[in-house]
Amino acid sequence: MREDAGVSPTPTSPRRIDQSNVPRSFDVHARSYDRLVGANPGYHDHLRLSARRMGIPNRGAGLRLLDLGCGTGASTAALLDAAPDAEITAVDASMEMIAQARRKSWPSRVRFVHGNAEELHRIKITGPYDGVLAAYLLRNLADRDAALRRFHALLAPGAPLALHEYSVRDSARSRVTWTGVCWSVIIPMGRVRTGSGDLYRYLWRSVLEFDGVSALTGRMAAAGFDDVRVQTVPGWQQDIVHTFLGRRPAAPVPSRAAPGLEALTPPSGTDLTKAPV
Ligand SMILES: C[S@@+](CC[C@H](N)C(=O)[O-])C[C@H]1O[C@@H](n2cnc3c(N)ncnc32)[C@H](O)[C@@H]1O
Repeated sequence: MREDAGVSPTPTSPRRIDQSNVPRSFDVHARSYDRLVGANPGYHDHLRLSARRMGIPNRGAGLRLLDLGCGTGASTAALLDAAPDAEITAVDASMEMIAQARRKSWPSRVRFVHGNAEELHRIKITGPYDGVLAAYLLRNLADRDAALRRFHALLAPGAPLALHEYSVRDSARSRVTWTGVCWSVIIPMGRVRTGSGDLYRYLWRSVLEFDGVSALTGRMAAAGFDDVRVQTVPGWQQDIVHTFLGRRPAAPVPSRAAPGLEALTPPSGTDLTKAPV
């Protein structure tokens, strides 16, 4: 299904990429994005792993899932793989990334919506959803605590959030590996394939500046998520890419009703004057 299908004419890259203009930079790099991530071993497998870790029951039959920051649809495909019978809404703020996603073939239960994950009410994304996946999104948002609270509010009681993210801050080894891979492979490859390494230099820098595992799990707990857990992925990305899982707490079980008056009424015939004191 298509929504808001216009494509901007010639996107230009912002001078310095930061959280305020990331989607515009993705507009510029949208056409080469799939080729670049396809050259990253494990990229799609790891997304599928995170989607499976959400534990969506029953192939997602009758459930509504949300993919925030869906890009060209790699994370949407992972969600679909984990829950082939679910209804999936995929949102991205880059018109060009969404346009690339829509060029692919999808079942009618999948729809792509152009919009900002920080202003979901504007595109009428209100929930409740039975699961939310946000792959490589949170790092790109300016107010992460507010974003997590909004994601929490979108979920049905007991439903999972999976953040699939780079997080290297807590490990010197991970930071060294990340910097080595970025400057020897990712940035040069980005420059060759797109004529500019700007987005990939931003990727390197933003990952180094992003939360470590303990800070991010703390943020999730502070936003109200229960059962917060982290698992990494295999390959060179081990201890670099992680699935951060949390759940909106299940609805409280109603306490048993107080006994009715009839339970307090003595059986007929009881002589209360003879009751023991
Ligand atoms: C690295 S890509 C990841 C795409 C996809 N999830 C994947 O795993 O391949 C990050 C995406 O987040 C989108 N994005 C960044 N900030 C956003 C925002 N505020 N709202 C919605 N999408 C945003 C970008 O446009 C980009 O498509």
